[in-house]
Amino acid sequence: MINILVTGANGQLGSEIKEIHKKYNQIGEKQANFIFTDINTLDISNNMFLKNFFQYNTIDYVINCAAYTNVDLAEKEVEKAYEINAQCVKNIISAIKPYHIKFIHISTDYVFNGKSFIPYTEDMPENPNSVYGKSKLEGEKIALNYPKTMVIRTSWLYSSFGKNFAKTIHKLCTQREELNVVFDQVGTPTYARDLASAIFKIIEQSEINNNFKTGIYHYSNEGVCSWYDFARAIALKSYSKCKINPIETKDYPTPAQRPFYSVLNKNKIKSVYNINIPHWQQSLDDFFMKI
Ligand SMILES: NC(=O)c1ccc[n+]([C@@H]2O[C@H](COP(=O)([O-])OP(=O)(O)OC[C@H]3O[C@@H](n4cnc5c(N)ncnc54)[C@H](OP(=O)(O)O)[C@@H]3O)[C@@H](O)[C@H]2O)c1
Repeated sequence: MINILVTGANGQLGSEIKEIHKKYNQIGEKQANFIFTDINTLDISNNMFLKNFFQYNTIDYVINCAAYTNVDLAEKEVEKAYEINAQCVKNIISAIKPYHIKFIHISTDYVFNGKSFIPYTEDMPENPNSVYGKSKLEGEKIALNYPKTMVIRTSWLYSSFGKNFAKTIHKLCTQREELNVVFDQVGTPTYARDLASAIFKIIEQSEINNNFKTGIYHYSNEGVCSWYDFARAIALKSYSKCKINPIETKDYPTPAQRPFYSVLNKNKIKSVYNINIPHWQQSLDDFFMKI
């Protein structure tokens, strides 16, 4: 039996893992047992509770989907962002360490400053622009001090669950005649369901080969686009006549500075874990089948 704990399971990624986990009730030769928790059932800021939880439950993998993800509010709620994205990671690590539990921690492209012009590899220097990015980088460093950690950085996550750009544009383009969307920030959207499948594949491969390959990995869908391109594709698939206007970031000021370029290089995860990654347009089709 393999016991897999998912924290933050009511968020976008956690919900996708929950949706597809039944396909993975057998991993390698073992039966898989999943425990889905969120802030109400396993608050990762509660150190004592965490320690007790791992003392009384046998867990093989923790997938940490819990996070503070409000990028703009983080500029004001600095302490809260660091508490969830860094201090809570420390709490989890100190609770799982005695049992050598494997730790899969999710991070972000916002650890980079977005000044690159080639896709970011895992070993490129981080230099976050925002409080959110800084707090996530701090969380990564804490997680990587534990030798059984795998950090997966992803970008532009969307899902049929929760609030995200894809759902917002889908809704707005049926209500409005025009929308202004920035065209000078480029990256790659990631359908959270694809990332959920990749995480299962990673666990499966680790079990089959008896080798959990730790360290930092990048995962997003394939391809590159701007938020404007992404919005146009969403409007098209929504059969909307809404006109999408390209605007510059300077004309859409936000409290947190976003990276202008946040394309991730996925060669490492593809070769080490033998993962096939769908193109973002294919994944957007899959998302539209779902909503
Ligand atoms: N969203 C993106 O565009 C994006 C991009 C790149 C990377 N990421 C990373 O991907 C991961 C998953 O993101 P997501 O979009 O799925 O996030 P999400 O939808 O905001 O989900 C995060 C979950 O964590 C929960 N949580 C917060 N504090 C907690 C606590 N103390 N104990 C337990 N659970 C707690 C939240 O509960 P409440 O809602 O009740 O607070 C929420 O259910 C995160 O690490 C994020 O940084 C996200």
